[in-house]
Amino acid sequence: MTQPVDLLITHASQLLTMEDGLGLIEDGAVAVHNGKIVATGKTSDLEKRFVGQEIIDASGKTITPGLVDCHTHLLFAGSREQEFASRLKGADYLSILQQGGGILNTVEQVRQATPADLIQHGLKWLNEFLTHGVTCVEIKSGYGLDYANEKKMLEAISALSEYTDQHLVATFLGAHTFPKEMKEQPEKQMDELVKRMLPDFRELAEHCDLFLEKGAFSLDQAELILECAQSLGYGLKMHTNQLSQLGGIALAKKYQLLSVDHLDIMSAEEIDTLAETDAVAVLLPGASFFLKESAWAPARKLIDKRIPVALATDFNPGSSPCPNLHFVMNLAVHQLGMLPDEVWQAVTVNAARALNKNDTIGSLIPGKYADLVLWDMPNHLHPFYYFGKNFVEKVWVNGRYAHLH
Ligand code: NIG
Ligand code: FE
Repeated sequence: MTQPVDLLITHASQLLTMEDGLGLIEDGAVAVHNGKIVATGKTSDLEKRFVGQEIIDASGKTITPGLVDCHTHLLFAGSREQEFASRLKGADYLSILQQGGGILNTVEQVRQATPADLIQHGLKWLNEFLTHGVTCVEIKSGYGLDYANEKKMLEAISALSEYTDQHLVATFLGAHTFPKEMKEQPEKQMDELVKRMLPDFRELAEHCDLFLEKGAFSLDQAELILECAQSLGYGLKMHTNQLSQLGGIALAKKYQLLSVDHLDIMSAEEIDTLAETDAVAVLLPGASFFLKESAWAPARKLIDKRIPVALATDFNPGSSPCPNLHFVMNLAVHQLGMLPDEVWQAVTVNAARALNKNDTIGSLIPGKYADLVLWDMPNHLHPFYYFGKNFVEKVWVNGRYAHLH
């Protein structure tokens, strides 16, 4: 007896289930029903067990789980190409911020933007992500920096979820930097974050992130934010060890962070400490590239210590205006020394884990959402080999065909 299913994809020259490594099946098939994965296996086996209402022949092509971008600042207004041009002439990213530009420039523009402006901007870029096979996107607030504007950003993220097929995960990043009006009164801003924003935004954001860096938040301030966010039940994340080492890795252990992000500069001791935690190391080589950093995250050393490594675009207008996760995957191979298998894990299972979503997305295991990408390429090495070409042909989210514009 064959079981009827909504969709049966057959004859994929490679199917990556991402179960225990790549989970590579040649001449692979996937059965999908009610938006979920029902089974994966050899075509010859699945054709005996299932009959698809829709059948897709994927001969000569590759199927993978939908990609997960677990660190973006996708919602912003305006752009900062002038800042980029000054950096090319020698200006420094943190000095620009300390002089009231950089992130604060984007804050001004976001404060002036209407919710509709933000939503329109968000949809444009989400679609760009979709064309690259990204079916789950984490989006941070952090360009409002006061109660009303952080709320506006978080509400825009939840509104975006209604308009896009993609899974969106909202992260509160009120502790991105101190806004101009609070520069001289950091205690007042800390109070505002801890007493009003964090408690009030719990329903709007799943995770809480912060920027531990010179010119942003100090170790003591970071600890206050984490303490409060933890008591409220947020998943905890931190931008740390990007441009300086301020002690963030010890906090990852103390507060059981879900992820630590950037990690461009790491001592051997910090790597050892991180290995004692469950945190995912989210590496953002797009930012290292665009800031022309001399240090690249020590991916090999992290992997050698069995630390789960994820990769993300960090898409934002200042340090990584790159909406293309494939470019980041290529940087990982060339600049971080990661192997293609490790890169695929970093943008699927490990990225899902960095969002605490590994029960539902990131791999093709029965019961998980049928988020799938059909790539017009015979094997999973092609995005690294023909670098710069986008092989994505079709994308499904929750078993439904997503329209690529
Ligand atoms: O991840 N580091 C802080 N936040 C972003 C940059 C934001 C911006 O420059 O607008 C990052 O690199
Ligand atoms: Fe970031």
